[in-house]
Amino acid sequence: MSTLHQLVVLTGAGISAESGIATFRGPGGLWEGHRVEDVCTPEALERDPALVHRFYDLRRAALATVAPNAAHRALARLDAAWPGELLIVTQNVDDLHERAGTRRLLHMHGALRSALCAACGTRHQWEGALPPGTGCAACGAPALRPDIVFFGEMPYGMERIEAAVARADLFVSIGTSGAVYPAAGLVRAASAAGATTLELNLERSAGSDWFDTSRLGPAASLVPEWVDSILSAQK
Ligand code: OAD
Repeated sequence: MSTLHQLVVLTGAGISAESGIATFRGPGGLWEGHRVEDVCTPEALERDPALVHRFYDLRRAALATVAPNAAHRALARLDAAWPGELLIVTQNVDDLHERAGTRRLLHMHGALRSALCAACGTRHQWEGALPPGTGCAACGAPALRPDIVFFGEMPYGMERIEAAVARADLFVSIGTSGAVYPAAGLVRAASAAGATTLELNLERSAGSDWFDTSRLGPAASLVPEWVDSILSAQK
């Protein structure tokens, strides 16, 4: 019987790469074709809402053409079978974790299939385009915006994430470059709290040195292998 009970898993764009969603950094990445400051900041939304809304409309529409891969499915299997505490924290705004069946999930950078009212803070499930000035069904203000955490805004659920990390026995990071804080700092918080730390990534990342172990390779192979091994150790 394994003594591991409390798990925190952090995922990034790399877990969705094999589903056909572009990552952010590196060749072919989303930030190669777009300047972050033009589409992913509160200032950009203020300056050119049509551009920002269109950028996220296109990405929301693209969700219809992709499906979860073996890595998302493996984490859903872990979620269904893991008897202890588990929190899967994703930086991704796609919905592939939930479509794979994962329930213990937190979208720290927001979600494409959600609209946020800038006036009253209500969230609405959203499909299709979200033109600037769309009215909020809760308060009536023409203030719905993409429910995305822009650079300079506070990620969602930080208290819950930090509490789970502080209790974690094992912290696993999958498919993230370790370039964006506070997500990139969670490995150090987990280590400081006594957790074992494991990175599963295609290549070494900015955070690799902070992990006890780094396994390099595609998520769709590494994640099912890791999930199988941790579930069989638990039996
Ligand atoms: P990045 O694009 O920065 O990094 C993706 C990581 O995944 C890289 O280290 C790749 O080597 C790795 N990778 C690529 N393909 C992979 C595969 N098949 N299997 C495993 N790993 C693979 O994406 P994130 O780290 O998620 O924020 O970026 C963090 C945040 O920066 C995003 O949430 C986004 C962005 O700006 C917002 O939009 C608010």
